[in-house]
Amino acid sequence: MICFMAWFVAAWSCLLVVVMVSSMRLSRSASSSCGSSCGHGGHGGWGPRSYPVIGCLVAFYRNRRRLLDWYTEMLAASPSQTIVVDRLGARRTVVTANPANVEHILRARFANYPKGKPFTDVLGDLLGMGIFNVDGELWHAQRKLVSHEFSARALRDLEAQVLDEIAATRRARGAGEEGGDDGEGEGLDLDDYRRMRVLHAALCETMRLYPPVAWDSKHAAADDVLPDGTAVGRGDRVTYFQYGMGRMEAIWGADAADFSLDRWLSLPRGGGDGAAAASPAAAAFAGVSPFKYPVFQGGPRTCLGKEMAFVQMKFVASAVLRRFELRPVDEGRTPAFVPLMTAHMAGGLNVTVRRRTPAPATSTATNGTGGELTSS
Ligand code: HEM
Repeated sequence: MICFMAWFVAAWSCLLVVVMVSSMRLSRSASSSCGSSCGHGGHGGWGPRSYPVIGCLVAFYRNRRRLLDWYTEMLAASPSQTIVVDRLGARRTVVTANPANVEHILRARFANYPKGKPFTDVLGDLLGMGIFNVDGELWHAQRKLVSHEFSARALRDLEAQVLDEIAATRRARGAGEEGGDDGEGEGLDLDDYRRMRVLHAALCETMRLYPPVAWDSKHAAADDVLPDGTAVGRGDRVTYFQYGMGRMEAIWGADAADFSLDRWLSLPRGGGDGAAAASPAAAAFAGVSPFKYPVFQGGPRTCLGKEMAFVQMKFVASAVLRRFELRPVDEGRTPAFVPLMTAHMAGGLNVTVRRRTPAPATSTATNGTGGELTSS
């Protein structure tokens, strides 16, 4: 017993010394271009400096409230936009913002990068055995089945149903045909929404900087080497990092941090792959590889609801913005981006809502100059 206690105390003392030494070395080098200590981390790749036993635990703890930006800084400093994060209590994780690596993981070596048991076990209670949470044959069978639900025909049927319901609701409210407040649908059909190029660009640009899914991980089924030379071991977590990719100058140029619609509007219409040419909604995407902009993932597991998501976002944005002007209550405040399973803003965004005065040409409205209310 005494022997065990001595061993226990000695082990913890050693660990404490390692943590303190690591901590001192980290604080000395905190002014590096990574905003923290990074470089060849001693774990077979670029990343936060790692130490025996604890790995990068100290740096990770220090940056725990700003992981997105910390990873982004390290990825930007990495020669190939890939880092390796090794820390006590977690499996070795390769994080990449390199489009060639992302294509390799999501498409070329798709079979080697399932979500993996560490993911599916944790989310099993929440997601069950649904398409989001299974791999292999189970996923393949569901994907085939669900793909029909998301076909162009299914989308059109759904659109007809939704627009019918809106019309019925408006009739019931008495808005009727003579109403100047011409309602949510505004007589637009699916193709009209698909053709809204400026709004499409605004949505793409917003999601470039604030992707609803900020990062997404797979687990390697077998050893592999990524196109940039990073070694991946069986069981390693491999994360493609949408948030960081949206901010990489190596991908978007020196103005990567700026919100710019020109990035999208200057792209040729259609012209890209078959899917882009066939769909007006995808036209603004022409020329932008999903492996450079994996906001909806890419490869065989691409988001099935992408088209529908754009139509829904355009429907809501155009219906609200056409009738109301929204202004942030606190213009100086940048809301904190919270990257949970899907992202949101901490504390929401309080805005002042003001009804727009209808333009004279279309002005048959009776209630054009309504008051203000505050909402979030
Ligand atoms: C802006 C909105 C959306 C974004 C950014 C988005 C993004 C994504 C991402 C990143 C994935 C991959 C997740 C993973 O494999 O871990 C995904 C998968 C998926 N999404 Fe979306 N999504 C959006 C909206 C939608 C909508 C509205 C639907 C359905 C109506 C939908 C249906 C799906 C399905 C079924 C999958 C699973 C595909 C598979 O595993 O084969 N998504 N989405």
